[in-house]
Amino acid sequence: MPGYDKISQALQKSENDDVAIRGWIYRTRSSGGLAFVVVRDESGIMQVIAEQSSLPDEDFEGAKNALIESSVQVEGTIHEDERAPGGREIHATRFHVVDYAEDFPITEDQSMEHLLDNRHLWLRSRKMTAIMKIRHTMTGAIHAFFRSHDFYEFHPPILQPGQCEGGATLFEVDYYDDVTYLSQSWQLYAEAAVFALERVYDMAPTFRAEKSKTSRHLSEFWMAEMEAAWMDLHEVTEMAKEEIKFILGRILDEHEGDLEALGRDPAPLRAMLDREWPTIKYRRALEILHERGVDIAFGKDLRTIEEKELMEEFDTPVVVTHYPREAMAFYKPADPEQPDEALCFDMIAPEGYGEIVGGSQRSTDADELIQALREEGEELDRYQWYLDLRRYGSVPHSGYGVGVERVLAWICGLDNIKDTIPFPRTMTRKGP
Ligand code: 4AD
Ligand code: MG
Repeated sequence: MPGYDKISQALQKSENDDVAIRGWIYRTRSSGGLAFVVVRDESGIMQVIAEQSSLPDEDFEGAKNALIESSVQVEGTIHEDERAPGGREIHATRFHVVDYAEDFPITEDQSMEHLLDNRHLWLRSRKMTAIMKIRHTMTGAIHAFFRSHDFYEFHPPILQPGQCEGGATLFEVDYYDDVTYLSQSWQLYAEAAVFALERVYDMAPTFRAEKSKTSRHLSEFWMAEMEAAWMDLHEVTEMAKEEIKFILGRILDEHEGDLEALGRDPAPLRAMLDREWPTIKYRRALEILHERGVDIAFGKDLRTIEEKELMEEFDTPVVVTHYPREAMAFYKPADPEQPDEALCFDMIAPEGYGEIVGGSQRSTDADELIQALREEGEELDRYQWYLDLRRYGSVPHSGYGVGVERVLAWICGLDNIKDTIPFPRTMTRKGP
């Protein structure tokens, strides 16, 4: 049994070196006594030349007849050939088919729905492989960022008895003889934790019954949240910019080839790392929109089309602060100097990718919270524990949540957020 090389390593070898790879057939064609089989593994693709005269009969039959996605083990020698992908190919001396694949149900140019129905197989595509690798780097970067800034990882419950971002998008779950809900955000629990750990972060599945079919909404997504005692709005917005720049930098350092494979030019993304990312108030955003011919009255959240229009003015992400208090979640405090505005922010990505981060300072005033919860029609009983956090040594604190998939969609330049997560869940899809 030979030691196997990753294809990326095999592609570094020299003329006539011995080599052994294993993987899946990516492309194949044959003519007469010759088969050209491109094999893929996690790390890349490589052409194998299988010549009848150099192989045992059974091996040549396998190389000639195995269909794409058959699993194979190949031994041979390296030959440099600039026509081969990566500039090297293997001249096979052994070609073993581990499992003969049936006709693969995915061929070129298939619809998004067909690819989603076959997501368990489409994960093997070069596109999905590249995205999953970038996703891996992103989540690793989030841990590295917060751990290097003295944050503790904190684990909130996924089953929660109340809402955080409005009752309309809660998923209800049977809970013994009662009901409970899937987490819309871990924030309220993080607020409890900051009185012990002061700075906490978490990355967790998050659930929203979004009753709209858009290219930006998932029913199950991952949110990376942070919460910090003693921080104000200005400090958290600066931290959000630093975090997103850190994630972007890591992805650019480690995945230039993957981004290019996705058709994403890394150069404009790299240019953003050295720029200042502006912070503007919502009222300023309305002025910019007005100058661009879009009139919105103060009082509503910005919609996707308005975010897109606003971002025509910018070539980096932008932080918008001080949204109208009336349109915001119950925990976002009024600005004491401008009570119709809330001490909150969104970060909006360029190119129409919209909101990627949402956060705020938190109201520390129990009466203000009670009133806001009443206005949302909530039963106060479910929030008494949360109100307690304002009764025993409350301090100013702030936090935000990063939409992992939203950031990935933007950095990878994807048309649809569904491709950022291996098995997407939306209003119209709960499988495979
Ligand atoms: O703006 P949101 O609703 O903020 C919160 O949940 C706060 N409690 C976070 C906090 O302060 N700790 O959601 C945060 C981010 C959004 O900016 C967006 O990137 C992402 O989560 N997001 C979604 N991503 C995919 N699909 C959805 N349905 C999403 N809803 C929100
Ligand atoms: Mg938001």
